[in-house]
Amino acid sequence: MTIREEIEQLKKEKNAVILAHYYVRPEVQEIADYIGDSFYLSKVAVGLEEQTIVFCGVSFMGESAKVLNPQKTVLMPDAKADCAMAHMADEETIRAMREKYEDLAVVCYINSTAELKRLSDVCVTSANAVRIVKALPNKNIFFIPDRNLAHFVSEQTPEKNFVYNEGYCPIHEKVKIEELKQAKAEHPNAEVLTHPECPKDLLDLSDYIGSTSGIIDYAGESDAEEFIICTENGVRYELEKRYPDKKFYFTKTEPVCEDMKMITLEKIAHVLKTGENEVQMEDALRSASRKPLEKMLDLAK
Ligand code: 13P
Ligand code: SF4
Repeated sequence: MTIREEIEQLKKEKNAVILAHYYVRPEVQEIADYIGDSFYLSKVAVGLEEQTIVFCGVSFMGESAKVLNPQKTVLMPDAKADCAMAHMADEETIRAMREKYEDLAVVCYINSTAELKRLSDVCVTSANAVRIVKALPNKNIFFIPDRNLAHFVSEQTPEKNFVYNEGYCPIHEKVKIEELKQAKAEHPNAEVLTHPECPKDLLDLSDYIGSTSGIIDYAGESDAEEFIICTENGVRYELEKRYPDKKFYFTKTEPVCEDMKMITLEKIAHVLKTGENEVQMEDALRSASRKPLEKMLDLAK
């Protein structure tokens, strides 16, 4: 039996479903039942029929799925796959900001620990952050943890007063402007599609800025035939599958999230077989971090 056949059989036996983010390895995306960006995956995780969710992504994604589905079993193929940015904010600063600014909304990017979500008023993803910040009645916004996404959102919501936090994604932060300029010189007809976790100098050279799903959809809607993609290289799989006649380039040093790439078919089969790496959370943390996630799902409707 191949590993894929084994996973299919285990899925049936265990009444399980596989969710995967666009940054995981192509062979993992291939066997997923649902694949998407963080926003899509958080929506899809609610209301699944299967009892077990295997989450092919990093720990904040599995945590969010568990928070929204406390009665389900959520399994992580690799418990060590984590997002560095998810930890880049702290309770002390959040409390200090709440004291300093009256009318403060703490807006928490979904790429964050449940502990940080618990201290926040609302969650956002890169796909809905502008819409949600606009919908908030508060003037003062403390946006955690990502400073790059915060700056991108604040430019589109000039009516708000943003307070920035010094978190960032180490993968998107390292996309080099010189390499983007070089790619543009090599492919002058290509449009540049960029994730808002990238620094501002890259966003300024971009034709489209959006979440991973936004980038993938835009490439289909655009009349252009070539694109330079400034986000993690896992999106190549879906782009080439959906648009076989279009061409996709990355910067010379392709952005790779090593944590996302830790998920393998063997690890998926292993957790399905053994039930290892189940996401466990204390009730108090789970119910407190549920509120900002539910508020996001509500405001993004
Ligand atoms: P999106 O899936 O929201 O585009 O976010 C990218 C990311 O870094 C996920 O970890
Ligand atoms: Fe976190 Fe960046 Fe990896 Fe996304 S790409 S999971 S933000 S480290």
